Amino acid sequence: MNVLVTGGAGYIGSHTVVELLNAGHEAVIVDDLSNAKADVIDRIETITGKRPAFHQIDCADGAALRRAFASCKIDAVIHFAGFKAVGESVRKPLQYYRNNLDSTMTLLEVMEEFGCKKFIFSSSATVYGPNNPHPYKEDMPAIQSSSPYGWTKVMIERILTDYVTAHPDFCAILLRYFNPIGAHESGLLGDDPNGIPNNLMPYIGRVAAGQLEKLTIFGGDYPTPDGTCQRDYLHVVDLAVGHLKALEYAADHTGAEAINLGTGHGISVLELVHAFETANQMKLPYVIGPRRDGDLPAFWADAQKAETILGWTATHSVEDMCRSSWEFARKSAEQ
Ligand code: UFG
Repeated sequence: MNVLVTGGAGYIGSHTVVELLNAGHEAVIVDDLSNAKADVIDRIETITGKRPAFHQIDCADGAALRRAFASCKIDAVIHFAGFKAVGESVRKPLQYYRNNLDSTMTLLEVMEEFGCKKFIFSSSATVYGPNNPHPYKEDMPAIQSSSPYGWTKVMIERILTDYVTAHPDFCAILLRYFNPIGAHESGLLGDDPNGIPNNLMPYIGRVAAGQLEKLTIFGGDYPTPDGTCQRDYLHVVDLAVGHLKALEYAADHTGAEAINLGTGHGISVLELVHAFETANQMKLPYVIGPRRDGDLPAFWADAQKAETILGWTATHSVEDMCRSSWEFARKSAEQ
């Protein structure tokens, strides 16, 4: 299949492109590099021996997107591109709604013009909102969120569901990710955000590399076994493979389908910190600080649907996640 991957130079996108190429598909990356580096394309080539086509364009630019679609027959789209910082979205809601919604709608319009009917969307567990009990199951009401970023995911899921109602021959798979961490085993691809990281694992990586002084754990008084928040961390390579499985499923199905991608188990921030220390034989300086606004105490996936309909389960251990994260952070710090 020829697969157009928006945001294909980003953290999850680049790992997915590697899995696509290794499985014999062709990948066409569309990325404006607003939160990714151009050398990711070279790294993908180093890992796979194949160079994906690359268009440095903004997904909301319809004319540029049309040129990318005209460059070869696109069979399916995986849509990662979008702003993704929860806190920033609270400060800049218009920017988030404009960017994330516009780019998705432009993409759908161009797909329609070119007769492309397979769409894999990068959604998030954030769509379950603060009121559903965990583990989260796909048939729970997913109609709210706690940040403008999260609301863009809720809204895009709605747009895709309505689009499928109007176009019953279209297939949209809404992949609801839990907390991806880890890096490619080569140490060449990983989560390397600009500036000070918001997410836990890239922050830990910079502390381990001595680039940041210590980790602050946000809250030690949650109603959880050790008082710190629990999340469902999954290896980014498992997540990437989940996209491949979703593509295979979409190839002979129509309709809209929401599917969780998580391990089905929650671990706490402190447990992850200790797992990192053990896996990499080091001590990580940390303090327990106040809670962060908007954090939920605990959630993880019910991972049954992905197994049943995609034949997908996460296979990497927490130790794999911690070791590969450190390998990538260490190499990045040396550059
Ligand atoms: N944390 C810290 N210190 C830090 C960073 C994070 O203690 O410096 C804690 C958070 O409080 C939370 C846990 O680590 O308990 C995980 O935090 P992340 O920021 O890594 O991830 P979140 O669960 O907050 O957010 C993730 C994705 C979002 C998505 C959300 C819900 O980043 O895109 O899950 O699915 F919306």
